[in-house]
Amino acid sequence: MQNIFEIENSVRNQTQIGDKSFHSWYQFVLGYPPHLVRYYIYKFGINSGHLVLDPFCGTGTTNLECKKLNIDSLGLEANPVVYFASRVKTDWNISTSELRQAFREVIATASSSLDKYGLSEDVSLFVQPNKGKPLSAEPTLSKDQRAVLPKDFISPKPLRRVLILKECIEQVNDDKIPDLFLLALANLVVNHAGNVAFGPEIYTTNPQKDVHILDFFYKLVDRMICDLDSQPAIAGTAEIVYGDARRVSDCFPTHLSEVNFVITSPPYPNEKDYTRTTRLESVILGLVSSKQSLRTLKEQLLRSNSRNIFVTDNDQDYVKSFDSINRIAREIEEKRIHLKKTSGFEKMYHKIVKHYFGGMYRHFQTLKPLLSPESRLAYVVGDQMSFFRTHIPTAKILGEIAESLGYKVEEIELWRTRLATATKIQIEENVLILRT
Ligand SMILES: C[S@@+](CC[C@H](N)C(=O)[O-])C[C@H]1O[C@@H](n2cnc3c(N)ncnc32)[C@H](O)[C@@H]1O
Repeated sequence: MQNIFEIENSVRNQTQIGDKSFHSWYQFVLGYPPHLVRYYIYKFGINSGHLVLDPFCGTGTTNLECKKLNIDSLGLEANPVVYFASRVKTDWNISTSELRQAFREVIATASSSLDKYGLSEDVSLFVQPNKGKPLSAEPTLSKDQRAVLPKDFISPKPLRRVLILKECIEQVNDDKIPDLFLLALANLVVNHAGNVAFGPEIYTTNPQKDVHILDFFYKLVDRMICDLDSQPAIAGTAEIVYGDARRVSDCFPTHLSEVNFVITSPPYPNEKDYTRTTRLESVILGLVSSKQSLRTLKEQLLRSNSRNIFVTDNDQDYVKSFDSINRIAREIEEKRIHLKKTSGFEKMYHKIVKHYFGGMYRHFQTLKPLLSPESRLAYVVGDQMSFFRTHIPTAKILGEIAESLGYKVEEIELWRTRLATATKIQIEENVLILRT
């Protein structure tokens, strides 16, 4: 087993070169690296007779590592675009010869459509000059879609190119192939066509006036096909479900008492709007299409920032009796009053903490029916200082909550330290290890 703690702290959370296959189809800044999952697979002695669950599966890192090691897994995710990514990344049952054929057709129609709308790109270096039938009308974003896409996230010309490519992809008549191309498109808009970067918060870069896309798209899909062609002869199954981890047993009604291990990383209470991190690709793929659909998405997420708190929320009711949580919430509110901070967002800070831990209480509670006797769980969580520099020892408090529900805290293992953006102080990211 690789000793992951020997990796330099500053790069410990990065995907290693040899781990790119399948993972790199689409990754995001909130993900943890494959070697962390592998470490717990070996530490816990997980093998192909076991079932692993990641209830906050994000881009499917846990599920992919399990699959590669012939271990069956379940994944749950409430953000549609990352749910889509983990589902596509873990479905390897696809004919690569049909994929190659469809790929050539998409490039051909996209190339002639770009020509037709005055956006020509030279594709002769990587495909036969074979022209397809161009689109009859140029696609655009609707007014509702534009209302939820920050204007500076992508410049007008690259956006036109991307929408044309998307429409050509959607013309492919197959139940799986278009999804794979759409995932490549999601990767392309974030890492090539858009004006965004992550540090770790999403920010806008200098606007690119124009950028050709077909070459980048070609390389992405080519790599995906190579990964599929070199998949291991035997791989685990991965069942990925769209849903809310605060009602996790409802999401897997056929797996009661079957889950042996959990390896996961829930959100942390940190004032980051997770839906903004994935907004560009969510809108382009049509998975967030209006203010209403954005709100519906936010309502499904664990409360962790002031942009996803709603008047009807009551998750805090589950943790009323926890002194540690009440103390932190009180300290945050007292600091706000002392600092004379009066914005609506700041007034919500103390509530976020209560709703966050209340949501996690509900998660641990609804998880129990899924767990087999003697199961072990690893929760990767960061301490936080986002709310007027009040220290929130996330792993410790989650341990208290879990204990109150009958879990045993086995250990809290330091994974790495991170520089807190607001305070420039190194704070801990830990792995809370529980057993039933
Ligand atoms: C820290 S990220 C997990 C990243 C993942 N380990 C990876 O490598 O990609 C937390 C994930 O939890 C998801 N999430 C937030 N609230 C959720 C909920 N109530 N139910 C399910 N997933 C949720 C977020 O959308 C996000 O993708």
